[in-house]
Amino acid sequence: MKNNKILYVSFATALLLISCKKDTLVEVVDVPDTPIVKIEQKGGKPSDIKAIEGAFSLYVLPFDYNALEPDFDAATMELHYSKHYLGYVNSLNKFIVGTKYEILELDPILRNLNLSDAAIRDNAGGVYNHNFFFEALAPKSGGEPSGSLLESINKDFGSFDEFRRQFVETSNRLTGSGWTWLVSDKTGKLKIVTSANNDNPLMKNLGISGIPILNLDMWEHAYYLKFQNRKREYANTFFSVINWEVAEKRYEAFSKSARVTASAQPVQSVEVTAEPVKHVIQEKPKQQENSVDEFQ
Ligand SMILES: [Fe+2]
Repeated sequence: MKNNKILYVSFATALLLISCKKDTLVEVVDVPDTPIVKIEQKGGKPSDIKAIEGAFSLYVLPFDYNALEPDFDAATMELHYSKHYLGYVNSLNKFIVGTKYEILELDPILRNLNLSDAAIRDNAGGVYNHNFFFEALAPKSGGEPSGSLLESINKDFGSFDEFRRQFVETSNRLTGSGWTWLVSDKTGKLKIVTSANNDNPLMKNLGISGIPILNLDMWEHAYYLKFQNRKREYANTFFSVINWEVAEKRYEAFSKSARVTASAQPVQSVEVTAEPVKHVIQEKPKQQENSVDEFQ
């Protein structure tokens, strides 16, 4: 009888423990939201940022970091411009010294690049791609292009909305770090391509050749603070800050170049040849504290 009593008490205790454990498992607790890293904004202007002394200087963003709000946030713009972009310019100024590329401008460097020159490939590509990206952003912009660019978009994609849909979806599908590009072939036909890392359509033997008209930075540093993993939303928002006048001028300049080339005798390539052009002498920038290899 005593043994039965002990057995009964033990069984009841076990049931109680199991019950308590079950309650613990189903207990609802408050899970804090994913912490968002607070980025300290120094409140400066893009013109305050200078690259280290060297052949290349920063494209000066002609508006403040907060000018693209609420589409592109100020914290991301400041981080992107004053850390990541600056890092590429500083690194290129450092790594190009003593190389065969030292006497060339950026375009000929990329068109004549040996792809095994990894440091030049990454940093010259990083500088060109960011120059191209930042140049085509503007406050109170977006909408649709006009002129010959719009005509070609309608012809090659069916409509502007369809072009936008394809550009956004292509960007969303891009895995890893890279860039989405609208490029033209030598006949003016447009297409959308992507490049990995800091590669771009000027580089040969990558299978993405074309004349760049527009690009979108799909590295996480370009969107993660605001959009986190919502790449499609980021790419869609890009269309609210595109300065289409810049893209139109790029396309029209290429078209004129192509027409001149087509009428010339003998026929010449529309590609810029690798003339050993010396860099335009620029104002000597003051030294910055930023490390060359920082924030890549
Ligand atoms: Fe970037």
